[in-house]
Amino acid sequence: MKTPCRTFVSANHSFGVNSGAAAFGLRGPARRQRAHALVHGVPAAATDKPPHVPVLLKEALQALQVGRGEVFVDATFGAGGYSRALLEADDTVRVLAVDRDPDAVAAGAALERRFPGRLRLVTGRFGDVAAIVREAFALENNGYVDGVVLDIGVSSMQLDTAARGFSFLHNGPLDMRMEQSGVSAAEIVNTAAEETLADIFHFYGEEKRARAMARAIVEDRAAKPFVTTADLAALAERVIRREPGIHPATRVFQALRIAVNNELAQLSAALHGAEEVLRPGGRLVVVTFHSLEDRIVKQFLLERSGRGAAASRHVPQANPPAPSFELIERKVVTADAAEVALNPRSRSAKLRRARRTSAPPFPVSSAFSVAIPLAASRPRAGKRRGAS
Ligand SMILES: C[S@@+](CC[C@H](N)C(=O)[O-])C[C@H]1O[C@@H](n2cnc3c(N)ncnc32)[C@H](O)[C@@H]1O
Repeated sequence: MKTPCRTFVSANHSFGVNSGAAAFGLRGPARRQRAHALVHGVPAAATDKPPHVPVLLKEALQALQVGRGEVFVDATFGAGGYSRALLEADDTVRVLAVDRDPDAVAAGAALERRFPGRLRLVTGRFGDVAAIVREAFALENNGYVDGVVLDIGVSSMQLDTAARGFSFLHNGPLDMRMEQSGVSAAEIVNTAAEETLADIFHFYGEEKRARAMARAIVEDRAAKPFVTTADLAALAERVIRREPGIHPATRVFQALRIAVNNELAQLSAALHGAEEVLRPGGRLVVVTFHSLEDRIVKQFLLERSGRGAAASRHVPQANPPAPSFELIERKVVTADAAEVALNPRSRSAKLRRARRTSAPPFPVSSAFSVAIPLAASRPRAGKRRGAS
């Protein structure tokens, strides 16, 4: 593996750093508001609250160990919190930022202009990160980067925009498509077989009443299709018992979102992609928000660092591949009480980090797999503990 050279394929914009809030002679909150408006393209009056508060930002930046002239991939641009922090950490750093949501990329144009030649924004899926990096750096650096960061899940902009249909807290079309194209949540709910719906709620939502919810959907949709988030939330309230501190629709909505956006397969592909594009010594940082995602990251890193099932003394492997990652620290990082108080979303966040070794990527036939077969492997009623 060769060490990358540092030339960056830049977007050419002329709107530079000096056009920021400082140039307007603003101070204190007004300056922060104006700066925020410049970055996010939101009018100053509407910027008291940032559109998305980055989670575990300090910890992510620390784990990325930003060095002079380094190139990073922010594979989940969102509102650009991580990209901005990387670009501000060192004025020679460059960032290739990716998001599958065209709204996120469009809103990021202002930040791209603020860092001409240093931030490049691409609409795409992080599952394709290896191809995206190769294309961006085709001639310049052999397709290698110094760091990849993933902050998985949905942004506050997506959750809080009723028209995107991600949340049971806002009534809107039952959509949930990050890419704004493809199969929507409503199409799945109105057309999938009962068994498939039960599998989605069971595997992706770990919902105990998966089967009952699927049955109720199939009964109700025969009379009237589900159109809005409120339609589905109302049914969940009827079918799923209320638990303290959690809305009955929480796991059903999470499961559908994962299914609509194929999120777990995307995450797995992104980890494999990062393994391909990180130079020796390059850093991988992943922030997840629920146990299904964290399990995938944990298993991947354990296996790649020689501590996974392949390294088990019970199932010894003849010639295990050399570790492609070393764990920077084994312990997972979580938000402290102060961050949780400021940003409750950070409560469930888990950050894992690792450093790329010089070994080649694991073969594709590696033991690591995250395929979750729908309709095939879920134990049927009566056999599964807690079956509903
Ligand atoms: C939690 S937000 C990231 C927030 C960001 N770190 C910030 O500070 O503003 C997650 C973002 O990742 C994007 N995303 C989710 N899955 C993706 C995928 N497979 N490929 C590319 N982007 C994805 C979402 O559209 C969303 O904008």
